[in-house]
Amino acid sequence: MTAQPVWPVTWGEGPGKGRKQAHKDQDFLLRGKQLGRLPNPDNPVPLLLAKFADMSFSVRSMVALIGAHTSGKQRFVDPARNGSSFDSTVDIWDVDFYGETVHGTPDSNVFMLDSDVNIAGNTSTRAEFHRYINNQPDWDEDYRAAHFQMSTLGYNVTTLINCTEIMPASINLTTLTINGTVDPTLLEAATQKYGAPWLVPSS
Ligand code: HEM
Repeated sequence: MTAQPVWPVTWGEGPGKGRKQAHKDQDFLLRGKQLGRLPNPDNPVPLLLAKFADMSFSVRSMVALIGAHTSGKQRFVDPARNGSSFDSTVDIWDVDFYGETVHGTPDSNVFMLDSDVNIAGNTSTRAEFHRYINNQPDWDEDYRAAHFQMSTLGYNVTTLINCTEIMPASINLTTLTINGTVDPTLLEAATQKYGAPWLVPSS
């Protein structure tokens, strides 16, 4: 497994570059096929690290990215527990996933993937995993950077046009919040009524 970072790029970005970049893409696809590109919860930690490293993610980025499991549920790993979430606050984008994976949770609906438990305990990833326990600011910052890297994989970012300005400035969820937490029932009702949370009137 090469340690060389790989940043797949698009075709045809100027004279003389197309052929070289096509080769890069082909190598990337071939290696992905050999490795089995998708991470699997049965994969040992070194293999998971290799798969992410092959897409140029650092250990820290990978550990930050799997924090997305804070909003996830499993369906197929254990079909008997279809719909179980990975932490007890599945509707909230928080760092409870990290703490609960390490320390456990009394919520019997929480399901822990072997890969997450292994990453929490492995000597190569343990420190990064523990970094985010009760540490929302660090996770927010690292997740933002890693997610940007993930969402631009395969693109040459210098040729992308930033169209963030067409996004709404912020989403006011005050009217959907009870005791500081967005209420899933109110959110669902508002989404049904207005089409998207950012269209909900703020007062
Ligand atoms: C070590 C790497 C990873 C492994 C082994 C892994 C594995 C899994 C598995 C097995 C599921 C449950 C699938 C099912 O039964 O329905 C799942 C769900 C999910 N994963 Fe990952 N994952 C990894 C990394 C990531 C990353 C990098 C992200 C995004 C940044 C992510 C986001 C999610 C989300 C949002 C769900 C929930 C989907 C849903 O609720 O339907 N995962 N993951």
